Amino acid sequence: MNIIRGAITVERDTPEEIKGKTGELLRALKVANGLDEDNLKAIIFSTTQDIRSCYPAKAARECGFEKTALFSAAEPDIEGALPLCIRVMIFAEGLTEKEKHVYLGKAASLRRDISRKFAVALDGPAGSGKSTIAKALAAAYGILYLDTGAMYRACALQLYRKGISPEDAAAAEAAIEEADVDVRYENGAQRTLLNGEDVSDEIRKNEISMLASSVAKLGSVRKKMVQKQREIAGKQSCVLDGRDIGTAVLPDAPFKFFVTADARVRAERRWKELREKGNTQIDLDELTKEIEARDKQDANRAVSPLRRAADAVTVDTSNMTVEQAVAFIREKIQEKI
Ligand code: DC
Repeated sequence: MNIIRGAITVERDTPEEIKGKTGELLRALKVANGLDEDNLKAIIFSTTQDIRSCYPAKAARECGFEKTALFSAAEPDIEGALPLCIRVMIFAEGLTEKEKHVYLGKAASLRRDISRKFAVALDGPAGSGKSTIAKALAAAYGILYLDTGAMYRACALQLYRKGISPEDAAAAEAAIEEADVDVRYENGAQRTLLNGEDVSDEIRKNEISMLASSVAKLGSVRKKMVQKQREIAGKQSCVLDGRDIGTAVLPDAPFKFFVTADARVRAERRWKELREKGNTQIDLDELTKEIEARDKQDANRAVSPLRRAADAVTVDTSNMTVEQAVAFIREKIQEKI
């Protein structure tokens, strides 16, 4: 007998939503495990107490599970448990491979209610798509997204405003030592603060990008930022993106990815992004050179250079859509659970 687990969250407590999501979960479990109704003997469902409008077992019956024994039960109302969640335990026979458990929607946060905190580390060069991917992953798992590059950008802004060059390491380190760099979250989105001021938009300017790369070379700056990043990741599950997450910030992170793409592809992405923001003066060749220079600086610095952690999975997004990259990473995470 094989026992397979699964869970999915619903958006609303309505019979249509429960039927739709129960069907989606059961179909995904059938595909992942090569099940058919002959080897699928029984399914036990449990639902959180905020699900009241329909039994998932009824939904399963209506989805065409005619021979399988079905049973639904309500879970205790545990404070802090993932809301609006349907869980299943499937009893099957004759599986030729190891069971593949399936967690969808916010339940993909690895059974957050009973599992420990976890971190997903995404490192890679600028323009590889890692921040878009990281945001999508964090949303899928219902966990925090920490953009660590934004913190180095805020440090760069501090120097920019004070007119200090990062080449003057002593003055730069002193100026950043007294800077208060922090993040807060508004409707799930990170806002980056410099001395209490929201600088989230200002730090995206092109002149700050190269400066941030130079600032990130400074040992004491890295030490201060890494400490803050560990503090944030220590409190909750999160997806972090940066250059050194898997190698230096969280070397024990259970899920590590190195997201990369061809330099020209990355420059084209940035070029499109800037044009969409109304910036038409940007030359693509210039941008490619700038990206290559920043890669070189990030990869060749003495402290925590950009490099792939030995246990990170490489994701080359040159020919991938964001959705494909996210699906690939989720698959890899699922395989490791
Ligand atoms: O990802 P980004 O472009 O916003 O990062 C800005 C700069 O900060 C980048 O050139 C490298 C540096 N950085 C870093 O050194 N370590 C990190 N964890 C994140 C960013």
